[in-house]
Amino acid sequence: MGYQVRIQGSDHAFEVNEGESVIDAALRNGLMLPYSCRGGTCGTCRGQVVEGEIAYPDGLPPALEADEADAGDALFCQARPQSDLLIAVREVREAGDIIPRKLPARVTGIEDLAPDVRRLWLRLPAGTRLPFLAGQYLDILLRGGRRRSFSLANAPHDDERLELHVRHLPGGAFSGHVFDGMREGALLRFEGPLGNFYLRDDSDRPMIMVAGGTGFAPVKGIIEHALHIGVERPIHLYRGARAREDLYLDELPQQWAAENDHIRYVPVLSEPKPGGDWDGATGFVHEQVLAEHPDLTDFDVYMSGPPPMINAAKRDFARAGLDPSRLFYDSFESAP
Ligand code: FES
Repeated sequence: MGYQVRIQGSDHAFEVNEGESVIDAALRNGLMLPYSCRGGTCGTCRGQVVEGEIAYPDGLPPALEADEADAGDALFCQARPQSDLLIAVREVREAGDIIPRKLPARVTGIEDLAPDVRRLWLRLPAGTRLPFLAGQYLDILLRGGRRRSFSLANAPHDDERLELHVRHLPGGAFSGHVFDGMREGALLRFEGPLGNFYLRDDSDRPMIMVAGGTGFAPVKGIIEHALHIGVERPIHLYRGARAREDLYLDELPQQWAAENDHIRYVPVLSEPKPGGDWDGATGFVHEQVLAEHPDLTDFDVYMSGPPPMINAAKRDFARAGLDPSRLFYDSFESAP
């Protein structure tokens, strides 16, 4: 039998299963509470129990003194409810609430997605988790202080492994290695999470999402997160690629659209093979958006892709009435 936990000052509540920690249950329910080590040692998950009883099956966590516990303080990564609870804790709502960290990660999978795109699966050291907002990115730390940025393509609730989509840039300091020589088991260092590209939950406006190339990665994370937390606002996903083989993981957005009435998916090819069998939309992806939505006044727009796509869309979407404060984008310059 589980217990219900309510968060003071918010209308959020969630069920905690028998033996589950408050933080684990919150994440399972798509709520982001502060945490870091998940081992009782850092104190990041500290809050107060306002009503109800908790227990620590492994004893009082190292970062909590007995007199603090007596006064109602709790470490929610370790606390197990013994009754329904009312708790006081800060909810993470902004990327600025999350502190980026430098961490090692091991490559546990390398997979071809398209002729020039590979998926990397990364695993963090045992007992380490990375709090992040869907759509944020990591910087892979290279020798000589160089960095290469990659969006997280998985959603926060699905964080057993981190998922990156890496496009091959010939001679690229990192992508060159991913496509030539990197093996499973390789050790990386990264800093993250970073960035302000994440789903805003302060809105009930329909959303247009535009993804170009590997800009599909953060959009994938955001849509998987939105589905997980039950967002029902319409999502119109437009995805730009050069040719059909560049629409990697295409079955995924097809499936989102087939299974969810509020999701629509429009792939757009800029260079379809002459004489090929493509009968979908062609041209620039943002122009397809405008052909179908000439008035963007009522929309929230999320875009991720290369700078030329983002800049053209910013200019033309503003002319179509998009409120600049409702435009969220991740423009990535791919450094070799
Ligand atoms: Fe570090 Fe709970 S997350 S003590």
